[in-house]
Amino acid sequence: MPPRSIIIDCDPGQDDAVALFLAISSPDELHILGITTVAGNVPLDATERNARMMCDIAKRDDISVFAGCDKPMQRDLVTAEYIHGNTGIDGIDVFDPKTPLQQDHAVDFIIDTLLARDKGTVTLIPTGPLTNIATAIERNPDILEHVEEIVIMGGAMREGGNRTPSAEFNILVDPHAADIVFNCGRPITLLGLDVTHQVLSTKERVDRIGALNNSVADATVGMLSFFHRYDTNKYSSQGTPLHDPCTIAYLLRPELFKTRKCNVSVETESELTLGHTAVDFWHVTGKPRNVNWAYDVDADGFYDLLTERLERF
Ligand code: RIB
Ligand code: CA
Repeated sequence: MPPRSIIIDCDPGQDDAVALFLAISSPDELHILGITTVAGNVPLDATERNARMMCDIAKRDDISVFAGCDKPMQRDLVTAEYIHGNTGIDGIDVFDPKTPLQQDHAVDFIIDTLLARDKGTVTLIPTGPLTNIATAIERNPDILEHVEEIVIMGGAMREGGNRTPSAEFNILVDPHAADIVFNCGRPITLLGLDVTHQVLSTKERVDRIGALNNSVADATVGMLSFFHRYDTNKYSSQGTPLHDPCTIAYLLRPELFKTRKCNVSVETESELTLGHTAVDFWHVTGKPRNVNWAYDVDADGFYDLLTERLERF
């Protein structure tokens, strides 16, 4: 089976960074057409630099990295330095990466790449606010028939929210973009807090990665150790949720996850519940089942996969 062609759209962020490492470690299954970046966890100038840093650390400065939208479609940008640190990837030393920033805007790259490829052959993997993806769809809807699937980290059902009581960060930052993407008509798999809060980076799991003794594993341990501190206090959990790598793990080993086709709608008006994802798990609304909602995961299997792939570097 040929590798799946993918574009990762991200806002690194320590967990986005680990998702990039997991994708880069899997060339037999995933062919990275490019990495596009968006403002989210930290402003765009940091997210694009961080993505390029990860390519350097993974010794893949050949990967094309693009900068995209620096603010949401309608709302002001909300960031998360209180979780990720001012650099967005606190836990490792920031350096000026060799991997160049491509000149094209990320939205133009997404549009041009999709239109140049056969129909239904490119998988989009957004792990930050959906601003770039939605802007591309609005600018040229013809790209949609070239999309095989959109595998998103975002949303929450039983877990409520993380940035507000009722909204997960990626969807909250740009709810209008999420509304456009969720209703685009292409296959969508949505991995929200209900699964990511199960894949906790416990000390035992982080120690296993630390024992791999390579630069990518060392960077992962450094970033997770910093990322860990906020969530363990907030949730008094034994580790921090490793959100974004769940998208890549789903593509590599979908059997690790349980999913159900549901209607998922986004709140775009209420200030109280802005960004809320209403997941119609029991199909009570009768609205179209527009999303494949992930609701359970084999956490040990996830970390076995992550550790096995990070060992490849
Ligand atoms: O809510 C978690 C999501 O928001 C993750 O993608 C994290 O990187 C932040 O972007
Ligand atoms: Ca992210």
